[in-house]
Amino acid sequence: LKLQKDLLYEINREAAKFYYLNLGQNREALEYLGRRNLNKDIIKRFGLGYAPDKWDSLKNYLIKKGYEEEDIEKAGLIGKRKDNTGYYDKFRNRIMFPIIDGKGRVIGFGGRVLDQTMPKYLNSKDTLIFIKGNNLYGLNLIKRNFNLNKIILVEGYMDVISLYRNGIDYAVASLGTAFTSNQAKLLKRLNKEIYICYDSDNAGINATIKALNILDKEGLNPKVILLPKGHDPDDFINKMGLKEFEKLIDNAFNPIDYKILILRKKYNVNDIDGKIKFVKEVSVILRNINSPVEREIYIDKIAKEMEISEDAIKKEVLGNNYKNE
Ligand code: GTP
Ligand code: MN
Ligand code: MN
Ligand code: MN
Ligand code: MN
Repeated sequence: LKLQKDLLYEINREAAKFYYLNLGQNREALEYLGRRNLNKDIIKRFGLGYAPDKWDSLKNYLIKKGYEEEDIEKAGLIGKRKDNTGYYDKFRNRIMFPIIDGKGRVIGFGGRVLDQTMPKYLNSKDTLIFIKGNNLYGLNLIKRNFNLNKIILVEGYMDVISLYRNGIDYAVASLGTAFTSNQAKLLKRLNKEIYICYDSDNAGINATIKALNILDKEGLNPKVILLPKGHDPDDFINKMGLKEFEKLIDNAFNPIDYKILILRKKYNVNDIDGKIKFVKEVSVILRNINSPVEREIYIDKIAKEMEISEDAIKKEVLGNNYKNE
C-alpha cells in the first residue's frame, strides 16, 4: 500500500511533467518566457511548464495515468465544482513553476498569468505535503551546491530564476507569503551568510524589516542588499548585469544601518518635527541593540548627524534605565 504522502508527491511530479510537455507546444507561453529572457536550458533546470487553457486537461491526463480524482484533489491540482458535478483543473492558462523541496520532491506549484490578469500568481493550496510558510523556492538547487558561502533571500520565483540565469545560483524565495520563523530555521540549518534582497517598493521594505526581526530571533545576522527604487532582483540584473549586482552585494547593509537608512527616507530631518520623530524612532531601534559598544557607536553617529548632544540621545534611547548605565 502506497503512503498517502508518497502518492501526492507522485501526482505532483506527473503534473509537472504534463505542464512541462505542454509548454513545448504552446507558442504564446514560450514567447512570454522568451520576453523574460528564459531559454530552454533554464526552463529545463527549473522544470517550468504551461497549464493549458482548458478545464480538464490535467485531470484527464492524470486519470489516464491511473490516479483517482480524490487524490488529485488532495494534491491541490483540481477542485470540486460547486454544483457537485465533478472536478476542474485549478491551474489554467498559466506559466507553471514547480516548487521542489530540499529532497527534490515536487510539493506544489505557482502559476503565473501571461498578461495583467489578477491574481498574477496562484499557488497550490496547503496540502499534506505543502505548507507554504515551511518552504523556500529554490532550496533544491542550493542543497545540491556544496561550495556556497552565501544565500540571498528574495520575494519571487522570477527573482530566483533570473539571478540563476545571470550566474547567482544561491537565491531562494519566500514566495510572497510573509517570511516565517520556519523559513528562518531552514535558512539557519544551511549555515551560510544570509542576504535579504526583497523588492525595492513599500511592500518589500516592510517585509524586509519584518524578516530582519524574525531572523534576529533565530540568532541570525543577515545583511540587506539595496536595489534602486522600484526594482526587484529580476529587473535589476536583467538591466544592469551580474557585475553591478555583485557590487550591491558587496555594499549590503547591516540590519541597524538599513533600518536607520529607511527611517532617514521617511522623515525630513531638516524640519524640526521631522527631526524629532526621526530621533525618537531611531532611539527605539538603538534601544534593542544588545551590545553596549555597538549601541554607543550608533548613538555617537546619530548625535553628530542630527547635531544633538549624545547625552540627550542616550536618555531617549535608554529611558528609565539611563541611570543604571
Ligand atoms: P513578476 O511580475 O512575474 O516579475 O513577479 P514578481 O515575483 O516580481 O511578483 P511580485 O513582486 O508582485 O510578488 C512576489 C511574489 O509574491 C511572487 O513571485 C509570488 O510568489 C507572490 N505573489 C505575487 N502576486 C501574487 C498573487 O496575486 N497571489 C499569490 N498567491 N501570490 C502572489
Ligand atoms: Mn513584490
Ligand atoms: Mn517583484
Ligand atoms: Mn518581478
Ligand atoms: Mn561617546
